[in-house]
Amino acid sequence: PTRLVIAVDGTSGSGKSSTCRGVAERLGLRYLDTGAMFRAMTWWLLERGVDVHDAAEVARRAGDPEILSGTDPRGPSITVDGHDVSGPIREEQVTEAVSPVSAVPAVRSRLLDLQRRVIGDGGIVVEGRDIASVVWPQAEVKVFLSADPDARARRRAAEQGGVDVAATEASLLQRDRIDSGRATAPLTMAEGAVHIDTTDFTLDEVISQVVALAEAVE
Ligand code: C5P
Repeated sequence: PTRLVIAVDGTSGSGKSSTCRGVAERLGLRYLDTGAMFRAMTWWLLERGVDVHDAAEVARRAGDPEILSGTDPRGPSITVDGHDVSGPIREEQVTEAVSPVSAVPAVRSRLLDLQRRVIGDGGIVVEGRDIASVVWPQAEVKVFLSADPDARARRRAAEQGGVDVAATEASLLQRDRIDSGRATAPLTMAEGAVHIDTTDFTLDEVISQVVALAEAVE
C-alpha cells in the first residue's frame, strides 16, 4: 500500500474537492477534506449561538465538539458529536461564518491535531488552504489550484443551482481575502508546490495532471 500524501491547496471554488476526490479514486487513495472540519466547527458554534466574530469565545469553545472525518472519496462523511453534518455544513450561514472562525489560532491547532492523526501513515489526498505549508510540509506531491474568479463563481453557482453569480463571486473573494490575510497559516502557495490554473481545463484534465505528478514520484 502506498504511503503517498498529495497536498492540494487553493482558493475557494478553484475545484479542489472534485479534483481531490477524482485523484483519490483513480489512485485508490483515501481523501480528507479539511475545509469540512472547519465548517463542522463553525456549524457547531452557530448551533450554540456563539458570536463567530468573538474570537475569545470561539477559542474558549474550540475544544468542545467531537469532530470525525471519514476518508472515502466516494462518500466523504463528517460528524460532530455523532451527528452527520455533511448537508448542513454546506449551507450559506456556515459558508459566511467559516473564514472568521478559521482565523482563530485555537481552532486551527485543535483541527491540526485531528488532521495529522487522520493523515497518519499516508496513502491520502488532502485538500485545504495550509496543507503543504503547515499541516504536512513533507507531502510528496504539492499542488496549488486557482481559477479566475468569474469561472469559479459560475461553476459554484451551477453546482448549487439558480444562485446569483455576482453574489457567489463576492462571497468567494471575501473568503479568499480573510483566508489569505490571517496571521496563522494563511492561504499561500507553498514552496515546491505545482500551480495549476484550472480556468481553461476540464475537471478530467486537472485530475490527470495531478495523477501524472503523483506517478512521477512513485
Ligand atoms: O474548502 P472549503 O471552502 O470548504 O473551506 C471552508 C473554509 O475553511 C475556508 O474558506 C477557510 O476559511 C477554512 N479552511 C482553512 N484551512 C484549511 C481548509 C479550510 O482555514 N486547511
